[in-house]
This record gives sequence, structure tokens and C-alpha cells, in this order.
Amino acid sequence: MCGIVGYVGSQSALEVVMAGLKRLEYRGYDSAGVAVLADGGMAAAKRAGKLVNLEKELVDRPLPTGSTGIGHTRWATHGAPNDANAHPHLDNAGRVAVVHNGIIENFAMLRDELQERGHELSSETDTEVVAHLLAEAFSSCADLAEAMRLVCRRLEGAFTLVAVHADEPDVVVGARRNSPLVVGVGEGEAFLASDVAAFIAHTRSAVELGQDQVVELRRDGVTVTGFDGRPAEVRSYNVDWDAAAAEKGGYDYFMLKEIAEQPRAVADTLLGRIDANGSLTLDEVRISASELREMDKVVIVACGTAFHAGMIAKYAIEHWTRIPCEVELASEFRYRDPILDAQTLVIAISQSGETMDTLMALRHAREQGSNVLAICNTNGSTIPRESDAVLYTHAGPEVAVASTKAFLTQLVACYLVALYLGQVRGTKWGDEIRAVIRDLSQIGGAVERVLETMEPVRELARSLADKNTVLFLGRHVGYPVALEGALKLKELAYMHAEGFAAGELKHGPIALIDEDLPVVVVVPSPRGRSVLHDKIVSNIQEIRARGARTIVIAEEGDEAVVPYADHLVRIPVTPTLLQPLVATVPLQVFACELATARGNEVDQPRNLAKSVTVE
Ligand code: F6R
Repeated sequence: MCGIVGYVGSQSALEVVMAGLKRLEYRGYDSAGVAVLADGGMAAAKRAGKLVNLEKELVDRPLPTGSTGIGHTRWATHGAPNDANAHPHLDNAGRVAVVHNGIIENFAMLRDELQERGHELSSETDTEVVAHLLAEAFSSCADLAEAMRLVCRRLEGAFTLVAVHADEPDVVVGARRNSPLVVGVGEGEAFLASDVAAFIAHTRSAVELGQDQVVELRRDGVTVTGFDGRPAEVRSYNVDWDAAAAEKGGYDYFMLKEIAEQPRAVADTLLGRIDANGSLTLDEVRISASELREMDKVVIVACGTAFHAGMIAKYAIEHWTRIPCEVELASEFRYRDPILDAQTLVIAISQSGETMDTLMALRHAREQGSNVLAICNTNGSTIPRESDAVLYTHAGPEVAVASTKAFLTQLVACYLVALYLGQVRGTKWGDEIRAVIRDLSQIGGAVERVLETMEPVRELARSLADKNTVLFLGRHVGYPVALEGALKLKELAYMHAEGFAAGELKHGPIALIDEDLPVVVVVPSPRGRSVLHDKIVSNIQEIRARGARTIVIAEEGDEAVVPYADHLVRIPVTPTLLQPLVATVPLQVFACELATARGNEVDQPRNLAKSVTVE
């Protein structure tokens, strides 16, 4: 997830674009760059690191003044966050500049083609191929919008592209497929951006772009066509957010925005990882198939929410690959002298890639000769850099301290790793893998449906604002979900919350059950592991018999729970192992709403930091 800005008008493009990038920096901040059309040519600057590095560069080496320009703040997917990989990317003649958000899945094939035709590519990004393809297409049609349409028809994946060409100095062209791009229309000027925050200071008049559309911006207006060249209807709307709300996409908190982004984040994490035959191709996992076949144990290390993802991964890894899997809190791991060797695959899960406890655990594992695979959301951060291999989650930057979309994408990445191990070790047949991938690709839609039905959960949360304690119960993969629900509530609502394996209830925690105590129960599917389902229904009856208030999260069509649920939250039917992807979402919404009702600061809860870089 990157931030993109484009401008054509009569103001200084550099000033407009830089101000827009500032408002979009929350979308990515590992490098930034701009390109301006001036004096019949193209001038560009880019720098690794935060926007401030680019600002310094522009002071040291100012660009000429022009009134057409584009800019980008990057959240890296392909290639390390360095100067060379920063956007914009230019063609060899330096006449085209392009910025990009998303992933071009077939870029390797396109790059090979370009190199055969003599193009020299200087970065590791998927974006650079687009600059070269655009230059080629423009040389035959001399029309940047047409060149963009031609190129987009060749691209696979999800992308937003914005480009300028020195031969068309008054035009900015954008394209969109499954990735955000909005148009702003002012008096004698027009804007393109990943979200309206970038141009709200200039205009509130916006145009919505549909999927697979190309937009051509000129001072006197915008033209929208499909990738096929057919004119598209231009739908205008008025933005009524202020600048601060716009940055959060109109949500009150980043956390709410990030919860809402989960369907997209889940889909993005699957992108580019499945080939045309439905087999998994985890290119970034640089541990060879033969090494993976040698592994006799998997150890997962992580902290907090990432640890809960690891707990769920254990069920999938052991079930699909039959390799024993341990999950350990990273902060405990190295102090107990764990048994590790070259046949141990250590998986370190971290959103930030900077958590010191996890970093120390992986260093210890590597010292013992184990291979470490990082599952991480932050390209170029320390944990993937120090690991033998990495699988990036594509959640986009997570700004709210409480992890939401990163958790769901960590789960997707864990399922992919488990399936990949099953694939290379031959413990899963190709058609079985394809079936799970099909299920995973439908999860985004299922999460969307959960999000659409959350009003009763919010209402319930508000009604519990004066409670002191909430308990969470689950079994099987629902147990880590219960722990995650409790963690969210602790960190956001500052309430006493505990998660239990429901079977443990009668071994002690049942003594906590009191009149009217809210108890959230995550119910496994009645299909599949029906024994577990029946047992948890008994657990619900036990707590209800002691006067507790039961909040039951159960799949659609599960009628057995209805008589025992004071509040019933329905989730879509999913395969048993994938249920956490939908069951966690109501718990995130619940915690966020309860925190709001208690007047707490949702995005930055007290005493916490987003990345914990001390042990
Ligand atoms: C909880 C939360 C934390 C993090 C933990 C690990 O909502 O965000 O528990 O999950 O600090 O952080 P990362 O994943 O960055 O290593």
C-alpha cells in the first residue's frame, strides 16, 4: 500500500505533490519520490526513508518549476526500500515517469521480454517494467492515455498506476485495477491520489474511478475510459470530510479503517502466490524445496497478536504436513535453551519486523544452525533482513497500535506456508491444495459480510461499557481467537479480560463465573469436528447455568447454540481451520467500540507502542 499523487494545473506541481504526499505518508514511508515536467523535459528526485529525506534532497538539489507532476510515498513490496527501488521509475530515455501502488504479478515475464529487446532495468521493482512498456507503447501511438490502456491490458495483478510523459507536458494519466485511485477536479486544475486526503486542501469535488479504467487529466477536465478504450461514465461526488478525517478515509480512527481494510488485505496477501495451475509459488521463500523436505520440526516464535497467529498456524501445519510444530513466545524462547538444529524450521512472525524479542529469538535460532523464515508486513525491516527467507503479508501500513489487518494477513501467510510445506513434502495432493486456496480466496468476501453485520455487536459493546471483566472461551483454533479477543479488550478498553481453552473451564476458571458476567464463546463449526462443537455447547450451558451473560459467536445455520445464547453473533460458514479469519473480526469491532464507549484513545492506547524495539 503506497501513496500516490498526480497534479496538472497552474500551481507549482512540486509544492502540490509534496503537500499531498505528506497527507498520504501514513500509507507508506520507506521511500519517496517526485517527477515534474518542466522546460520540455522531465526532472525527478527520490530518496529512501521518510518524506523528510526527499525534502532535504529537494533543498540541496532543487527541481525546475513546472505545473505537471507526480509523486509517491512507498510501502515496499518488490525490492528493498532503497533509492533505486523508490518511485518514480523512468524509462531509459528519461521521458516517461511512473508511480505505482499494488503488485504486478507477471512482471518477471515482462522484464525478461524487455531485456531481450535491449531495455536496461535498474531496480528490483515490478513497477519499472511499466515505465519501459509505456515508453515503447507511446513511441507507436504518441498518446499517453492510449499507451496506458495498451500496457494495462498486458498486466496481471492489482495496481494503481500514474504516469507522465515529457512529450505531453499538460497531461497526467492514471489507471486502476483493484487498488485505490481518486480524481479531484478544481478550477483549471486536476488531481489524482490514492485517497482524497492528498487534495482536500484544494478541492472537494471528486470523481470516482471504476475497476479497469484509465483517466486522463488535463487542466480543463478529465476523460475516463475502460482499459478497452470505451468511454466510461464519469461519476462525480462531493467530499465532505475535513483534512484529518480524509486521512483516515472518513473513519474516526485508523483502527476502524484498518478493520474495514481486511477483505482487501487478505486478498492482497494471496496475490501472486498461486500459479496458473493452482500450485503455490512462494518466490520469496528462499529455502529450497529439498531443505524443506529435510525439516523434522517447525518452531514458531512471535509476540502478542502475532503469537496468536502462530498458535493457529500450529493447527494447520500439523494437520496438513504432519510435522511437529511448537509455538513459543519470542520473549521466553532463547532463555529455556530450546532444542534446535539444521532440521528445525523456525518461523518468526512480526507485523513491524522490528520487535526486539522476536529478533533475539531468531538470532538465537540461526546461531543454532536453524533456518528462519520471517512472516512480516514491513519490507526491508530488520527481522526479514536477518532471516533466511521471508514471506511478506500485504496488509499495508498498520497505523493503529492494536493489530487487526496484520493479524488476518499473518494467518493467511501461515496457511500458505503450511500448504507450501505440504506441497513440497508431498503430504497434500495438488487438488487438496487448490481446494484450500479456493476457500482462502473466498474469505475476503466472508470478512466483508461479517463487517456488514456489526451494528448489534457495537450496540452490545456500548451496553457493557461499565463492566469490569469479560471472559473469552474457545476450543481448537477458536482458543487462540479467544486469547486474541481478550488481548484486544485489555489493550483498548483497559478492562480485565481473559481467554481460556473452553475445556479448561472446569479445571479452575469456572470459579470466576458470576451473575451477569459477560462471557464470549467462539463456537467451532458443527460440521467437521462436531465432537468439539457438542462439547462447547455443553460449556455454554455450564456457564449460563451459573448466571453468566453468554455472547456466542457461531456459524450461520448452527441452531444448537440458539437456546443458550443471550447474544448471538453469526459468522459465515468456513472450513474449520480457516474460521479464525472470520471469527476474530467481531472481537476486534467489539473491543474498539467498548474502548470508544469508555472514552479511551483507540489508536494509541496508554502505555503501548506500535513496535516494541526493547526486550
Ligand atoms: C496487539 C499488538 C501486539 C503486537 C506485538 C508484536 O494488538 O499489536 O501484541 O502483535 O507487539 O508486534 P509485531 O507483530 O510487530 O512483532
